[in-house]
Amino acid sequence: MLAKRGVPVALRAFGDLGEPLPLRLGDPLEEVQVPPPALLLPRGARLLEDEAGRRAPDEPRAQGEEQEEPEDRAPFHGAPSLQSRPLVKVAPSLLSADFGRLKDEIASVAEGGADLLHLDVMDGHFVPNLTFGPFIVEAIRRITDLPLDCHLMIEEPLRYGPEFAKAGADVVTFHVEVPGDPARTFDAIEAAGAKAGMVLNPATDVRRLEPWLPRCAMVLVMSVVPGFAGQAFLPDVLAKIPLLRGPLRYPGDVEIDGGIGPATAGEAKRAGANVLVAGSAIFRAPDRAAAIRRIREA
Ligand code: DX5
Ligand code: ZN
Repeated sequence: MLAKRGVPVALRAFGDLGEPLPLRLGDPLEEVQVPPPALLLPRGARLLEDEAGRRAPDEPRAQGEEQEEPEDRAPFHGAPSLQSRPLVKVAPSLLSADFGRLKDEIASVAEGGADLLHLDVMDGHFVPNLTFGPFIVEAIRRITDLPLDCHLMIEEPLRYGPEFAKAGADVVTFHVEVPGDPARTFDAIEAAGAKAGMVLNPATDVRRLEPWLPRCAMVLVMSVVPGFAGQAFLPDVLAKIPLLRGPLRYPGDVEIDGGIGPATAGEAKRAGANVLVAGSAIFRAPDRAAAIRRIREA
């Protein structure tokens, strides 16, 4: 334990330093065949989007039931055509919110068009920072209907992952770099009622995920070293996404997290990401709806 603690935390958080990146970083992304994105969505989310960017409602409507839709978001019923552009979901990361006004902060992004709420759970071991546990997730569950996307930056996802699922998380992601048997963690999270997925640190070889891809409802590609909001985007990680979409044939949600904003969201989308996490770019903006729209449309 002492030896483990002697490893610099930042290095451990960065992943497998020393393992060469298998990526040919200079390759033009267009050369990789990108299959259409899958529509595997967290519990409760049924978002389809056609070329005009209109969405399906979250739930089927009862006959005659009134439901308000924003003017530019008329309901879209039916399966997406082959020509549909990839569905893009925006997930504000609560880490950059004002926790003294949590309810208002969540309402502002829900009203601003957020598709998911990204919750960063840190244990002070896997990353050099601490945030919150299932108790807070349970409280957040009571104040919003947004699907909750829990990103576990913790050393014991097998022990705590199911607790976040029971607290109301729709999808729980855990890092491929943590020791232990991922199969047991997938089983435990799913048995507790959430979808499960895995996360890759910037330095981690994307092929480490290969055995687990059939179990992943979501793959989260970190575009910063995890631990803190407000860091600069690392563009080299984008080369992992065409490998996931192409040679590894991963059809599920590919989420990207870290340094995403209007200036970086476009390249992340073009690489094949369809869930864009943004903390500071949304919560530091006075107009949350405009910030979410700029990221979605980048
Ligand atoms: C970092 C977290 C991110 C973070 C993103 O460890 O996983 O979700 O909140 O914040 P920004 O968008 O500011 O980089
Ligand atoms: Zn995160």
